Amino acid sequence: MTGIVTGRLDVPEADLSVPGGLPDPLVCEDGTPVRTPEQWWERRRPELLDLFERQMFGRTPSTPVEVRTQVVEVSEDALSGRATRQVVRLSFGPDGSSTTVDVLVHLPNAASGPAPVFLALNFRGNHAVEAGPTDGADLPAKAWPLAAMIERGYGVATACYEDVDPDVDDFGNGVHPLFYAAGQTRPGPQEWGAVGAWAWGLSRILDHLLENPRVDPNRVVVVGHSRLGKAAMWAAAQDQRFAMAVSNNSGCGGVALSRRRVGETVEAITGRFPHWFCPTFATYANREEALPIDQHQLVALVAPRPVYIASAQDDGWADPYGEFLGGRYASPVYHLLGVEGLAATEQPALSEPVPSRLGYHIRPGGHALTGYDWERFADAADRHLGRP
Ligand code: GCU
Repeated sequence: MTGIVTGRLDVPEADLSVPGGLPDPLVCEDGTPVRTPEQWWERRRPELLDLFERQMFGRTPSTPVEVRTQVVEVSEDALSGRATRQVVRLSFGPDGSSTTVDVLVHLPNAASGPAPVFLALNFRGNHAVEAGPTDGADLPAKAWPLAAMIERGYGVATACYEDVDPDVDDFGNGVHPLFYAAGQTRPGPQEWGAVGAWAWGLSRILDHLLENPRVDPNRVVVVGHSRLGKAAMWAAAQDQRFAMAVSNNSGCGGVALSRRRVGETVEAITGRFPHWFCPTFATYANREEALPIDQHQLVALVAPRPVYIASAQDDGWADPYGEFLGGRYASPVYHLLGVEGLAATEQPALSEPVPSRLGYHIRPGGHALTGYDWERFADAADRHLGRP
């Protein structure tokens, strides 16, 4: 790698705080333009994945790990009989006890065939996701609208992200040690951080879901809020079995452009959360123009699969306009692959979703995953994957 970005996207100067424009997803590092889908799949896409691995998230190990699956609970009449609820414990590692992840799955009983599923990690444990009344309004703030999603024909699968890897700057716990060489105590400079581990966890939960005949293998949508939105996008970029990806307020390190330096910056995020990325990413603090990548290219790695980006008006830390631009400048890759990109060149008004294959909304309010957001994710999945 030369470190010199040769292809530049034409971006209004006012949109970026660093010189040099944005790296062009359709120009290879040696300056070769990408003119055909074959060049994208065979050359540019692997090159970009490699850059995100080495410069930002660190490399995810490909070594298979032993997994044990234990069904802990099953109830066929959850949510007033509308859903089957399962808790499945996945244990990773040779003795099956090193790291355990409890996956909570709700599947619609009314489905006539395999159901599409939203898969999202949660922050506070599975109990918080399903807390509160299951019928009607007044959901506690952190609960998810499980009944509403089931009603629309979607299953919902979740696990607590800290089951996969605790969110602390300590690499002695979680899944990282499963992959260490003898004597190793933390990942190397270009090996995965916590976001990479959470993304890996999403793929392992997907492995499990794909064994369930009641899950439609072609319609598993990975969703994530905030730091888990970063993980969801990285999971979908690496694992093409995810049919669609949803970024909710993912901000810096998610879909917001780093070169804007609006809200959270590379300096801020790597200072407060050094364990999220590989150490190399921190070296770009205050020199974002030297990054060979930016976050529109993370979105582009999911193409041509649908991506839905959700922002919130008062979530300045996540830079809503930067999130919009992350989608907008991924569009050329969608077009090259023969599908529509983000059908808006201006950020839309509040609560006016852009329903294109690369979709977007900004709603009033702050940093949160709300019922409104979930309804729009289901609208996007209905439209682009087929209504259940
Ligand atoms: C912090 C962090 C963000 C992150 C957010 C969250 O605000 O700076 O990058 O997205 O936490 O996960 O809620």
